[in-house]
Amino acid sequence: MNNLISTIKTRTIGLIAIALMVTFTVIACGNGGTPESSATVGIAPEKVVDYIHTVLLADRTAYTKHVVNRLKKLEGKDKPNGVVNAEATESWKDTDGIPLPAQMFRLGSEVALENTTDFTYGLISSWYINDNHNLKSEFEKTAMAEVNKTGEPYKGYQEIAGQTYYSAVYPDIAVAEACVSCHNTHPVHLERYPDKKFELGEVMGGIIINLPVDKT
Ligand code: HEC
Repeated sequence: MNNLISTIKTRTIGLIAIALMVTFTVIACGNGGTPESSATVGIAPEKVVDYIHTVLLADRTAYTKHVVNRLKKLEGKDKPNGVVNAEATESWKDTDGIPLPAQMFRLGSEVALENTTDFTYGLISSWYINDNHNLKSEFEKTAMAEVNKTGEPYKGYQEIAGQTYYSAVYPDIAVAEACVSCHNTHPVHLERYPDKKFELGEVMGGIIINLPVDKT
């Protein structure tokens, strides 16, 4: 399973690397075909984070739709349309199950961190189950509050330990009944947020992407 995760993530990182490499040099040629001037054209950071987000979301959705949805069980409950005799469960490591989509996403972000320092990404939430997903910087607090309210992405610059980042938070929305029912009945959620009941269509958290940038 670790090999599989690694393969999938290596492919994802490859795709992202290709997206980032689409920084090209334009060479303007004069009459005689000799280069007169050259300029490097970069991609705006707000575009780069959008590209990364597209790939991350695509992978997560494909994993949910084409892997987890085919299993017969999701966290102890039978799934009516399941065909593969296996379970996706939070305790996948201690059982013979496979990771939940949010866990798969976190595992991917950990593999990415081993492979690149060009950017980092992860999940955050105002109502987190996993402590790693707590809101940390002032930017994360402001951005998440805004995203919770508007359901729209929030982007901007922040500084952490002397490094400037272009950061973006994209809404993670309760698109299926399973999102709502699993979170609302999770023991950690019940203990921490007894009054918070997610509803379909609501923002449950966010995908954050941090791109280190040079100060200009
Ligand atoms: C079967 C249970 C289950 C389902 C279904 C589920 N989640 Fe989660 N979700 C979890 C668990 C467990 C975590 C913590 C994972 C970890 O340890 O990284 C989590 C983490 C998250 C987080 C990060 C914040 C946190 O709580 O740690 C977000 C945001 C999130 N889920 C959104 C969703 C959305 C949106 C859906 C539906 C598309 C969904 N979840 C479906 C169990 C579930």
